[in-house]
Amino acid sequence: MGVYNEYINAYDEYIITLDSNEIYLEMDKNILMKMKSCLTNIELHKYPTNELKIIKELYAKYANTEGKNIIVGNGSDEVLELVISKEIRHGKKALSLGPDFVMYNFFVSRSGGELKTYDIDKSMSFKVQEFIELGKKECVDLIVFSNPNNPTGIAIDVEDIIAILEAFQDIKVVVDEAYYEFYGKSMIPYISKYKNLIVTRTLSKAWGLASLRVGFLITHEDNIPELLNYKVPYSISSFSQNLASIALRYPENVVNNAKQVIEQREELYKSLKEIEKNAAMKIEFYPSKGNFIYGRTPHKEALIKGLENNGIVIRNFNDDTFRITVGSPMQNRKVVDGIKKIFIYQQSIAN
Ligand SMILES: Cc1ncc(COP(=O)(O)O)c(C=O)c1O
Repeated sequence: MGVYNEYINAYDEYIITLDSNEIYLEMDKNILMKMKSCLTNIELHKYPTNELKIIKELYAKYANTEGKNIIVGNGSDEVLELVISKEIRHGKKALSLGPDFVMYNFFVSRSGGELKTYDIDKSMSFKVQEFIELGKKECVDLIVFSNPNNPTGIAIDVEDIIAILEAFQDIKVVVDEAYYEFYGKSMIPYISKYKNLIVTRTLSKAWGLASLRVGFLITHEDNIPELLNYKVPYSISSFSQNLASIALRYPENVVNNAKQVIEQREELYKSLKEIEKNAAMKIEFYPSKGNFIYGRTPHKEALIKGLENNGIVIRNFNDDTFRITVGSPMQNRKVVDGIKKIFIYQQSIAN
């Protein structure tokens, strides 16, 4: 059930790491300067503030909500675990998508529960009525899925999520919006109407701050006190709090980041589809609403090893699928050239 080893990434060995969905853009120089200078004020002998008022207010402004609706976590991992550990114990079930973010299964299993999945992988489509029927049949105690979905890149429409919230009014429905900025549609406007709705967000993706480990849970204010009963105190260091509260003052920066990544994603997708069309060996790529592109090939060993030989690492899943994080224009060119060499070179041999 462990996932720890999957997260020991080979940063030292590979030159281009496109396996973790980080953004390729570095922090704006002016913001970075402000971040560096604030570090001198941190009182190292003191615990960090536990109230996190400044971060909550700043994030609330960005997300169009209020500080009282927010819990800040050590990455969205922490707030996801918070909900799962509250709702799931031995004999309880959660419903997610297959595939989805690996940590859901890890947290649910660790809490003694069982994760049921609605398979989107074969058709790359989502039928809400089938999802609801599966959840009812299995009598699930929690629903959790990422939207846009990691790793497939599909997104579930707001209307479908509302249908899920209506159908499961007695259980919590967690919509993990880690990749929200690359998609643009959120469920946050619905938190006051649907008390069973929990949204999670992160600074690790479009904000370009994966190293800080700061994430958010956003829900109806009535849910906050009971969730806080499961929260570990002091989980966000003074360094992360200070640096995050500077970055959060510049939301225009994240809008700009997302715009650039989306442009690169569409370019990369176009080039990969060209390869798909001309390849001698079967390979497929899917459109994406995230900062990554999901693909499938029966020749995955050749793909993974071939790219590794060019110093490029992408995410390899246990079946015939893989995921490529959108990189810089130069990184994307290298990954496209690498895949071309493997899949189109074979064609010239075959001819
Ligand atoms: C769907 C999804 N949710 C949550 C996370 C974790 O984000 P964080 O860095 O905020 O813990 C990830 C990270 O890859 C993710 O893909």
